[in-house]
Amino acid sequence: MLIREEAGWWYRLRDDGLAIVSLVAVENEEVVGHILFSELPIETAGGVINAASLAPTAVRPGRQGRGIGSALVRRGLELCRQRGIGIVVVGHPHYYPRFGFATELAKNLASPYAGEAFMALDLVPGAIDGIVGAVRYPEVFNQV
Ligand SMILES: CC(C)(COP(=O)(O)OP(=O)(O)OC[C@H]1O[C@@H](n2cnc3c(N)ncnc32)[C@H](O)[C@@H]1OP(=O)(O)O)[C@@H](O)C(=O)NCCC(=O)NCCS
Repeated sequence: MLIREEAGWWYRLRDDGLAIVSLVAVENEEVVGHILFSELPIETAGGVINAASLAPTAVRPGRQGRGIGSALVRRGLELCRQRGIGIVVVGHPHYYPRFGFATELAKNLASPYAGEAFMALDLVPGAIDGIVGAVRYPEVFNQV
């Protein structure tokens, strides 16, 4: 048996009450994947808009490439859709577009991670599209 202290920058998000959706994938009673969506305010001229950041997604080495990550993303997005918010991710441009994420949609959002890896997804029309503002990542993201 191995007992380890929880570690990882994302636990801070949960401890700070910023987690919106946190899911694990379980196979044979073993956790093989994890995904977290957390609150991400977007500051606009008209006030603050609530959005979510998708980070991290992780699947155990040896279990990758079998659809576990995709299943976590899709289920997480379903749960976020019920909240009517938009989602922002900083991730691989080969992976996230298959779920609908687009760099183009994020182009009006100022971000320290702006670039082709900075993508957004409108889970409900207008959640991100048409918004001009700046995302405000919690301080813990500086530790990533
Ligand atoms: C990225 C990750 C979560 C994907 O989970 P997964 O269960 O392996 O993914 P799926 O089986 O659902 O999808 C497989 C696809 O993901 C792609 N993929 C896997 N890891 C990738 C990575 N690091 N970057 C880009 N694409 C990746 C594979 O090439 C494959 O693409 P294809 O369908 O076009 O062949 C997982 O590989 C992982 O934990 N990687 C290490 C940690 C990491 O990079 N996390 C992402 C932070 S944004």
